[in-house]
Amino acid sequence: MSADEIVLEMRGIEKAYLTGEVVFRALKGVDLTVRRGEFLAVGGPSGSGKSTLMNLIGCLDRPTAGQYRLAGHDVSGLDADARAFVRNQLIGFIFQGFNLLARTSALENVELPLIYRGMGSSERRRRAVDALRHVGLGTKLDNTPAQLSGGQQQRVAIARALVTEPKLLLADEPTGNLDSTTTEEVLALLQSLHRDQGMTIIMVTHEPDVAQCASRIVVVRDGLIASDRRVETPRQAGVDPVSANPLLGGASS
Ligand SMILES: Nc1ncnc2c1ncn2[C@@H]1O[C@H](COP(=O)(O)OP(=O)(O)OP(=O)(O)O)[C@@H](O)[C@H]1O
Ligand SMILES: [Mg+2]
Repeated sequence: MSADEIVLEMRGIEKAYLTGEVVFRALKGVDLTVRRGEFLAVGGPSGSGKSTLMNLIGCLDRPTAGQYRLAGHDVSGLDADARAFVRNQLIGFIFQGFNLLARTSALENVELPLIYRGMGSSERRRRAVDALRHVGLGTKLDNTPAQLSGGQQQRVAIARALVTEPKLLLADEPTGNLDSTTTEEVLALLQSLHRDQGMTIIMVTHEPDVAQCASRIVVVRDGLIASDRRVETPRQAGVDPVSANPLLGGASS
């Protein structure tokens, strides 16, 4: 795999929803190319089409028109079963509400996508433990979601997304339900996945502060991409702005 490998390419992507007899054009012709190792933040007003776009990128839904290639395959016209297969093989998802199974341990939650793959139980367990350790939850394997903090729950969800070694990590407002300290924790984890493992990440966010942690910012407006720019110096998450800045009373170093 080369560094400039194209992970996904959309051309003229449209999505129309039919509600009763009313057709609503949520996406009106999106062109988007994402290369391996990019970290995209997707912003834009409420109702502009961000989640619709993420659902198409993640093969949860299919476009009304246009071409979509994912990891070199044309996935524009796949039926629901074929899309489920593609999701399990190529994509990890993180949601605002974590979407963990409630009465199920962290370990079992992370094992779930491997069960769908038909993997044997000992290999499954080994990989799930590794993924949970990787997100700093090696001591919380048996905790259910209710026995974890919000940030820890989101880290379980990240472990679940990573355990299948996806080509693409999709996150729709992953910090939307978190306080500012926990937001920084989750962002620092995403940044380290991007930086240390070259993970390709697409993250929807309303927060300019959160978007600044990405390497590229795409803004969706009224069903179209209104702007698309690189971030020269991404903000490092987890750095406390007061202690990092001597002018604000922090230590100088
Ligand atoms: N299943 C659906 N049926 C009909 N209309 C829909 C459907 N899903 C979304 N829409 C409409 O498409 C538009 C875009 O919705 P979308 O959820 O993509 O917005 P968004 O940018 O993610 O907004 P938010 O920031 O509030 O999450 C909205 O006007 C919405 O009402
Ligand atoms: Mg949305």
